[in-house]
Parts: sequence; C-alpha cells; structure tokens
Amino acid sequence: MASLVFLLLFGQILLCTAVDTITSTTPLSGSQQIVSQGSKFTLGFYSPPQGNTTSSNYYIAIWYSNIPLVTTVWTATTDVPVSDPTTASLEIASDGNLVLLDQAKNQLLWSTNESIASNSTMATIRDSGSLDLTDASNSSIVYWRSIDHPTNTWLPGGKLGRNKITSVSQRLVAWKNMADPSPGLFTLELDPNGTPQFFSQWNSSITYWSSGPWNGYNFSFSPEMTTTYAYESRFINNDTEGYLFYSLKDVSVVSRFIIDVGGQIKQLRWLGYSQQWVVFWSQPWSQCEVYALCGAYGSCNLNALPYCNCVQGFSQKVQSDWDLQDYSGGCKRNTPLQCQTNSTSAQAPSDKFHVMEDVRLPDNAQDAVATSSQECEVVCLNSCFCTAYTYNYTGCFVWHGDLITLQDQYRGIGGGTLLLRLAASELPDQQRKKTTIIGSVVGGLAAVLIILAIVLFFLSRTCRRDRTFWISKTAGAALTDFRYSDLLDDIQSIDSLLLDLLTLRVATNDFGEGTMLGKGGFGMVHKGVLPDGKQIAVKRLSHSSRQGIGELKSELVLVAKLRHRNLVSLIGVCLEEQEKILVYEFMPNRSLDTILFDVEKRKDLDWGRRFKIISGVARGLQYLHEDSQLKIVHRDLKASNILLDFDYNPKISDFGLAKIFGGDQSEDVTRRIAGTYGYMSPEYAMHGQYSAKSDAFSFGVLVLEIVTGRRNNGSCNSEQYVYLVNLVWEHWTRGNVVELIDPSLSGHPSHVDQVLKCIRTGLLCVQNRPEDRPAMSSVNSMLTSQSVRLPSVSMPAFCDRLSGCSDNSESESSNGMTITKLEPR
Ligand SMILES: *[C@@H]1O[C@H](CO)[C@@H](O)[C@H](O)[C@H]1NC(C)=O
Ligand SMILES: *[C@@H]1O[C@H](CO)[C@@H](O)[C@H](O)[C@H]1NC(C)=O
Ligand SMILES: *[C@@H]1O[C@H](CO)[C@@H](O)[C@H](O)[C@H]1NC(C)=O
Ligand SMILES: *[C@@H]1O[C@H](CO)[C@@H](O)[C@H](O)[C@H]1NC(C)=O
Ligand SMILES: *[C@@H]1O[C@H](CO)[C@@H](O)[C@H](O)[C@H]1NC(C)=O
Ligand SMILES: *[C@@H]1O[C@H](CO)[C@@H](O)[C@H](O)[C@H]1NC(C)=O
Ligand SMILES: *[C@@H]1O[C@H](CO)[C@@H](O)[C@H](O)[C@H]1NC(C)=O
Ligand SMILES: *[C@@H]1O[C@H](CO)[C@@H](O)[C@H](O)[C@H]1NC(C)=O
Ligand SMILES: *[C@@H]1O[C@H](CO)[C@@H](O)[C@H](O)[C@H]1NC(C)=O
Repeated sequence: MASLVFLLLFGQILLCTAVDTITSTTPLSGSQQIVSQGSKFTLGFYSPPQGNTTSSNYYIAIWYSNIPLVTTVWTATTDVPVSDPTTASLEIASDGNLVLLDQAKNQLLWSTNESIASNSTMATIRDSGSLDLTDASNSSIVYWRSIDHPTNTWLPGGKLGRNKITSVSQRLVAWKNMADPSPGLFTLELDPNGTPQFFSQWNSSITYWSSGPWNGYNFSFSPEMTTTYAYESRFINNDTEGYLFYSLKDVSVVSRFIIDVGGQIKQLRWLGYSQQWVVFWSQPWSQCEVYALCGAYGSCNLNALPYCNCVQGFSQKVQSDWDLQDYSGGCKRNTPLQCQTNSTSAQAPSDKFHVMEDVRLPDNAQDAVATSSQECEVVCLNSCFCTAYTYNYTGCFVWHGDLITLQDQYRGIGGGTLLLRLAASELPDQQRKKTTIIGSVVGGLAAVLIILAIVLFFLSRTCRRDRTFWISKTAGAALTDFRYSDLLDDIQSIDSLLLDLLTLRVATNDFGEGTMLGKGGFGMVHKGVLPDGKQIAVKRLSHSSRQGIGELKSELVLVAKLRHRNLVSLIGVCLEEQEKILVYEFMPNRSLDTILFDVEKRKDLDWGRRFKIISGVARGLQYLHEDSQLKIVHRDLKASNILLDFDYNPKISDFGLAKIFGGDQSEDVTRRIAGTYGYMSPEYAMHGQYSAKSDAFSFGVLVLEIVTGRRNNGSCNSEQYVYLVNLVWEHWTRGNVVELIDPSLSGHPSHVDQVLKCIRTGLLCVQNRPEDRPAMSSVNSMLTSQSVRLPSVSMPAFCDRLSGCSDNSESESSNGMTITKLEPR
C-alpha cells in the first residue's frame, strides 16, 4: 500500500518536472505524460472527442504541447482501444521492446516488435515529435522511432517512402473516422511497384490521386510538393531506397502534412495569432474527387456542409458513422425496387426514374443498345441489377450495382444527367402533379389575398416606434446571444429596412426550389418579386450558417449605411422566427465568375464592358476605403463577389467579412483568416494582417483575371496549373504579355494600350510589400487619366499552391531547393 502511495506521488513529481523518458522502472499509465525537452510534444493517453457516444476510448498518442486544440501527430495503432487508462501501462518489456499492456485483462495491446540485442532500453520523446526507443546506456543506438512508423501525419524531419531491400514502407493511413485513429480506407504511399511517384488510394486498390513520376526536379503532376519557399525537400531514389524528406527552414513555423478522414492530403500550418490550422495545399484539389468518399448512393456536393448526402430515395446506412464523418457505409434504399420484391407483378407498380441533372456520372458505365431515351429506360427496367441509366449524344449507358463517386452541381468533364431507378412510391406520381397544379392556382389566389392583407396590415401600423419595439422583441427571442442593448443600437440603423417574413414568403413562392439562384455553406439565395414588381435576391442564411450573428450584424449595419452605384444595395432584412434573411437588389447578369470563366458566355464581355467592370470595382473600393465615413476593408474581393446588373455595371457584394476601421487605425490583425485562396495577399495569408492594401492585392488579381479570362488558382481540369500572377509577370518581363490577353478580345487591337495599362496597374497591385501597392484613388487616376505616368513594376508576390501568394523576399535569400525565380530578361 505504502509503495502504491509512493508510486502515485512519484508519478506526480514526474509530471511536474516534465520527464521525457520511459525507462524500465518508470512506466506510463493513467494521466501521466512525458514531454519533450523543449516542451514541443507530449505523449500520453488521449481520447478523441467521441461525437454523440458517451463511452471513451483511449489511445497512446503524441500531440503538440503548446496548441490548445489537441492535435495528434502519431498514435499507437491497436486493434482494441483502452477503455480505462489507469489499468493500462506503456512500459519497457523484458525483451527491450516498448509495449502497451492492459493489466486488467493481462493483454498485450501493442508492441514496437523489434528484435533488440540489448535488454536495457528506454523511450524518449523528442522535440521533433518522434518517440525514440534507444539503448539506455548509449542513446545513439536507436532501435525504433515513431517517426519512421507514421500514422496519418508526416512530420518535418521524417521520411515518406520505401526501403527496397526490406520492403518496409512509411505510408500515411487516414483515421477511420473523427473519433477512431484505427486505419481507414484512404492511404498515401510511394508506388509499391517501384515507380518514383506517390499514390493516394482507396482500400489499397483504387488510385484516386497521383503525384506523377519524379522527373529529376519535381513530381510532374504536382511540382509544388517539393518546391516551395518555406520548406526544404529532397527526393532520394536509388537501388536501396526511395523516399521524400522535408524540413522547415524556419523552426518557429509549426507545420504538418496529413491525410485527413476525407482522404485528402494536406499541408497545414498553425497560425498562432488566429489560433487555428490553415490549409496551404491539398490534393486532390477538390474534396469530391476522393474515390467513394460518400459511399454507395452518397453524393458529394462542394457547396454543402457536410459534403456528403444521400441521393433521393436513399438514407444513411449507419447514422452514427456519418456523424463522425465516416461516409464509407453509404446509403440504403428506402423502398425496394419492384423486381426485388416477391409480389406478383400485377400488384406493385413498375419502377420509376428520378432525374438528376448536372451530376458527375459514376465510373464503370456499361454500353447498351438503344436509339432513344425511352428505349434506354426499357433496357434498364429489363434488368433487375440496373440501377441507373443516362442517354447522351454518345448513346445509352446503364449502371449495374451500387453507384459510387457521384457529385452534385457538377458541370465538368464526365458530367451529365443521371436517371436513377427508384420504386414508384418514392417518386411523386402524375396524380400528385395534378394536385400541385390545382394547389398552385389556389395558392395564387391565396397569395393575392395575403398581399392585400399585408398592405392593410402595414397601413394600420403607422407608428414607427411601436413597430421597432415589436420587431426587436421577436428578433431578440430568435437571436439569444445578442445583447439587448446591442440589438437596439443596430435596429436603430436598419429599422427602415425591416421586411416581414410573410412578404418574403409570398415573393419567393415560399422559398420554392424554382426560385433558387444559388446555394452555399451560408444558406440559399432565392429570386423574388415584391408586390410593387421590384425584383429581389433573397439571401436566407441557414440556421447552421457559418455566417454567425456577429458577421450578420456587421453586414447589416455596414450595408445599410453604404450607398454607392458600384456596391450592391441592401433593400431589407428580416429577423423573424429564427430566420436571418437579407434582401438585395436583383442582378440579372449574376456574378462575374459565371460569365468570365465560361468559354461561351465570356464572349459577351467585350473590352468596353471589361473596362467598365474594372473601373467600377475600383471606384467601389475607393468609396469603401477612402470616401465612406466608415473606412472599410472588404477582405474577400473576388470574381464571385462582383455582381453585374443588366448593363454589366459591376456591384461589389458580400460585406460579411468587412471590418470597420475607426479613425487613423489603418491596419489590423485578424484572429480569423477568412478570405479566398488565390486572392489573399501575402501578409494576410501568412500573418493575418489586413489593410486597404490587402484589398488592393485582391483587386490586382481580379484585374489580371478579367484581362486574361483565366482564374488565378489554377483550373482543376487542366493538367497544368496556372499561377496567373507568375505567368503574367513572366510574360511581362519577356515583353510578350499580349499573348495572355483573352483570345475572345483579339478582334479589337485598338484597345491594346488600355489593356496593357490595366495589366500594369494589376501588377502594381500585386506587389509583394503592401507599401508598394497603390491606393485605390491612385488606381482610379491611373485608369482614367491619359497623362498619369505609371510607376515601374517590379517582381510581384510569388504564388504557389502550397502557400498561396507569398512573400518572396525569404526565398531570394535562401539556398537549396527553392522556387524558380523569374528574372526580367
Ligand atoms: C512482430 O513481427 C513479426 C515479424 O517480424 C510478426 O510475425 C508478428 O505478427 C509481429 N507481432 C505483432 C504483435 O505485431
Ligand atoms: C538482460 O539483463 C540481465 C541483467 O540485468 C542479464 O543478466 C541478461 O543476460 C540480459 N539479457 C540479455 C538477452 O541481454
Ligand atoms: C554509442 O554508440 C555509437 C554507435 O554504435 C558508438 O559509435 C559510440 O561509440 C557509442 N558511445 C559510447 C559512449 O559507447
Ligand atoms: C477492401 O478490400 C478488401 C479486399 O481486398 C475487401 O474484402 C473489402 O470488402 C474492401 N472494403 C470495402 C469497404 O469495400
Ligand atoms: C518541374 O520540373 C520541370 C522539368 O524539369 C520544369 O520544367 C518545371 O519548371 C518544374 N516546375 C517547378 C514548379 O519547379
Ligand atoms: C541510397 O541513398 C541513401 C541516402 O542518401 C544512401 O545512404 C545509400 O547509400 C544509397 N544507396 C545506394 C545504392 O546508392
Ligand atoms: C448527434 O448529434 C448531432 C448534433 O450534434 C445530431 O444532429 C445527430 O442527430 C446526433 N446523432 C445521433 C445518432 O444521435
Ligand atoms: C423472396 O423469395 C425468396 C425465396 O422465395 C426469399 O429468399 C427472399 O427473402 C424473398 N424476398 C423478399 C424481399 O421477400
Ligand atoms: C455519355 O455518358 C457516358 C457514361 O458516363 C460517358 O462515358 C460519355 O463520355 C458521355 N458522352 C458525352 C458526350 O458526354
């Protein structure tokens, strides 16, 4: 008993003095931990958040000591987790191996499993994040290192590759789900067949991403994997081994490379000032390209959170797995197909097809003979295995068995209309269609009555003060985290904008599908018509929308106070019944990106319109930065936030991220980096610093996009990634930048001077240092005046997919493998 007390006390003392080793006399158990000498990493028992379940599973894990959000970098992979860490112990076994024992069940859970010559060993946690098993008397004799046996994380200083003699490889294996580090279906490893390239695979069988072979300098499909300014990397490939190694040039940077639960590989960096992990690079580029991410009959949608949903007529097979982001179980059919039931054919109506437009069609389609869509449908109905068909101008294709890797809202290569076979009862039949027609007639009449009622209602409420009070009471109930006084302050300024829910329901046909303009993580946008005939865009924020109440408030107050012809104007807001709805003027030509990046539609944008857009956006920004009484930085300027009216006049939208500056404060550091990749200036992306000059940077990128018709962030479809800023600079220095001008503008050589002026202005705006970028008022005078001499342009910020657009001064001074610097010639 006394010895137990002594042991416990001793354990406490160990904790306090932050011991970094496990020796044969000091095992680790319960809440004990060991911490590396520089206090960078901690090892102990860790229980991942378990979702809804109450039971706790513990795993031996290593995590960052100084990051409040526990982030593991390694776990001991066990078949059975530990349920009570006080009865488990991590200790040095008599054969010198480090083992995890469950003392209650007297069971060996995990072992380093090496053949060790000495029986006097110890395990030490290092500042590199590795747990090393060494000889106790000579720590340079290393038997085993956790960094050579990575789980889902590849740390700087570790190798990822394969020993060709022993066939031992380091591969990254995704966690099974958010709460379970045991091996999941997604892996990353060097090709076991010996070619020098990395593969991401599903269930060790299907490759869904490849780095492309090593060409002596970089990986051909993924050059940014090895060339970036913050990392030093090396690929070794000889007869004995092949591996990739990387280290950080700046030891204060905290960075890790992982394969996440969704099968994407990612390089992340910890940003101390914003207390979050930021993704600097990921592959596959789109989450939906991960094979079978959403399981059978699950469909991936990049604009939805979570990404996966079941298709019509199906529901989640195992809800609890879905809650933990493990979608591999997929979805099950709600009602069996007619041919799957044993009833006589007379009873059950024959199966129907649900039309899914704009989906990425699953692989393994089978050719079928049919000359029309109807024939194709019959072919499918004739086989009980047939689950879907499509009929496009190459012919009829059918699918047998489960449908995998579906994607919604997809308009790229391999997309089309899928007809999904469902039991008749899963689809609304003809009968119901009739009733909806009757319903809508009745509904129309009702709407007229409702509008009348509304008019009367408003006529009867002439006392404004009264109305304010009424609305703030309902709003206050809905928005509980609002302080009442705050609310009153804000309502004062948006008072005249309040619209009621009923009006909006009528205007948008009760937020009907047919009125939907767009959908995103924030919620939906509907088109509507007010009783006076005015067309509106209704942004209905979802309850779970990431646009929190704070952002909504700032959007409301700001937008209400800002009036400029190049800013979208807010018509009204509605905060009733837990709804958060913003009503804007309707923009018939939607957003700039839908036109500019569409091969056909961009032909509508002749140079005159493009120049109008560039100068309009510049004026809108100048108003925000300099002329409005508030001084606002937009922070998320991009093509999709530029809306176009019927005459292609640009209007800047989405002030959710805008921030008011008081007085002479010109720069601020944000705790949340929330801009859009590719448009973020280096100082914002790297250090979270934003100012009017960060908007100038985004504006510069936008100008280059408008002139070239290319996106800055690289097109997912093309083999070659385009870093627009670098590309333009390269051509600029060679003097052939004219080649980059969007070919659909080529018919108008008379504008070339103006186009070049815009490119030059754009390049000035994407300069590395904020102070080298012009203010928007200067931009405006550069664009409008014939006589202003433009300053000369120097090398802009360097953009790559690993770090976005970064500060290139560091790369200039560094040695070793770095970016290819573009010299003016
Ligand atoms: C230990 O390694 C041997 C081969 O080296 C293997 O057969 C055995 O299954 C391993 N044991 C454990 C517990 O991993
Ligand atoms: C292990 O250590 C003991 C003494 O502590 C020694 O007698 C024994 O021979 C050692 N065994 C091996 C395999 O080295
Ligand atoms: C420790 O081991 C290394 C490698 O085997 C050897 O070179 C070194 O001399 C040893 N040091 C001592 C103090 O035994
Ligand atoms: C993974 O592959 C194995 C055979 O290699 C198979 O038995 C298993 O069912 C597959 N898992 C899934 C989820 O398809
Ligand atoms: C990758 O290597 C190829 C072939 O040597 C080279 O042309 C290309 O510029 C390199 N890409 C990068 C980003 O370094
Ligand atoms: C392969 O490279 C490793 C690491 O540079 C080196 O230690 C080893 O000797 C090399 N093997 C051959 C056969 O060149
Ligand atoms: C788990 O919790 C989430 C919300 O936290 C809820 O939406 C979900 O339905 C819950 N799942 C189960 C199986 O209780
Ligand atoms: C249909 O009948 C077969 C054998 O007659 C039986 O095995 C099967 O379970 C039945 N299926 C259904 C859905 O009732
Ligand atoms: C038609 O659909 C099939 C099946 O997905 C596909 O392989 C084919 O490329 C499509 N044809 C066209 C022209 O889209």
